[in-house]
Amino acid sequence: MVSNNFTQNRFTFLLSREVAQELLSTYGSPLYVYDGDRLRETIERITKAVSYPHTQFRFASVTNGNIALLKIFRSSGWGLHANTPGDIYLGLQAGFNPSEIVYSGSNLNRTEMLQVLNWGVTILNFDSLAQLQLCCEVLPKRTEKNIRLGLRLNMPEITGDSRIGVRPEEFCDAIALTREVGLKLSGLHFYRGTGTNATAAFTQVIDTVIATAQQLPDWEYLDFGGGFGYPYHHNKAAFDWEMFGAELSERITRLGRKIDLVIEPGRAAIAGCATLLAQVVSVKWQGEKQIVGVDTTVANLSVPSVHGGYREIFTWKQADKSSIPHSLFTTDICGNTTYSRDYLGKNCQLPALEIGDIIAILDVGAYGYAMSSHFLHRPKPAEVLLENGTHRLIRQREDYSVLLTNQMLDSSPLFKGSQRGLLPWR
Ligand SMILES: Cc1ncc(COP(=O)(O)O)c(C=O)c1O
Repeated sequence: MVSNNFTQNRFTFLLSREVAQELLSTYGSPLYVYDGDRLRETIERITKAVSYPHTQFRFASVTNGNIALLKIFRSSGWGLHANTPGDIYLGLQAGFNPSEIVYSGSNLNRTEMLQVLNWGVTILNFDSLAQLQLCCEVLPKRTEKNIRLGLRLNMPEITGDSRIGVRPEEFCDAIALTREVGLKLSGLHFYRGTGTNATAAFTQVIDTVIATAQQLPDWEYLDFGGGFGYPYHHNKAAFDWEMFGAELSERITRLGRKIDLVIEPGRAAIAGCATLLAQVVSVKWQGEKQIVGVDTTVANLSVPSVHGGYREIFTWKQADKSSIPHSLFTTDICGNTTYSRDYLGKNCQLPALEIGDIIAILDVGAYGYAMSSHFLHRPKPAEVLLENGTHRLIRQREDYSVLLTNQMLDSSPLFKGSQRGLLPWR
């Protein structure tokens, strides 16, 4: 991971130093800051890019499950894409109607499958015949019949080496399974893999995906993912929504029949709408290299150093108002634990920093807070939303009590063991 300090224009669009200081003094540090106005603009731009009239956008909340943000998607006319029952649960709390939620996950057990169906989700894309079969077993007990069932596609030539999905050779068996319970297999789901900025990687496979979907006699909808990239490197090519939308709309219109199109962007919709603010708590030098310690950690933002990737880092010197450019030094930004991978930025080019200066890690809206954890036993940051020139808390900062959640502090009654003698210590 390499980060730098060249992004002033893009960044000041989100925040000024004065606002960053105000936010930190109001809500504390570290702090996830979301720009609601920018999020609405991004949603609008993506929506406009796909002109095909029967298109439904579903936000992939695997990237970010904050209810206040989900409500912005909802009020902008998008539904929700769920990878897990937890995504559905959060979506329902945010006010989505179950009919606005598409589920395309993996490996539900029977209880979870029932739960998903009882919540009333009506479009379900399955990853395996076993999951489709389980759904069909559970479904006949319900009266709801306007459910739409689909399969996730696995074709190594276009989906790569993926564990997810069903091969076209298995379609016949899948169709038989659904017909047995009086239902149709009406959808195909294509997912290209996450973070792809090469637009051609999507446009080149449209024809193959459509031809494959046409093998389903009851084909009614196409779900085209997911996976659209975001340009974390300010000087690298971005995913071209206009080109993608035009090509997909043209090809699907050419079919001459009404096929519902589902698009479920995650990262592309929300990555650029958030910044993680933190403060410098320690500075030391190792020869020419500046080692900056900050009050956040990779457990608060695990993506860059743990999973690879790149996020730009911007800094404000607390007391310095001069506009004279500072000399830049090779700098590591280190988290507040001793974990060997606790780097928020490595080999960044940054000015000499001091305790109290502010650092801003850009483009953390997707897979940021959502992938944060309690590893290292640091409570999670607060989240704040900026909208129409105001700010408000949308998730409280955790305190240490969260580390006790679900722990049994008093000794619980001893489990006496099974009557059938299955426990080895009896
Ligand atoms: C089926 C599906 N759709 C959408 C997404 C969101 O992907 P991205 O953030 O790359 O758009 C995922 C992510 O795992 C997914 O599995």
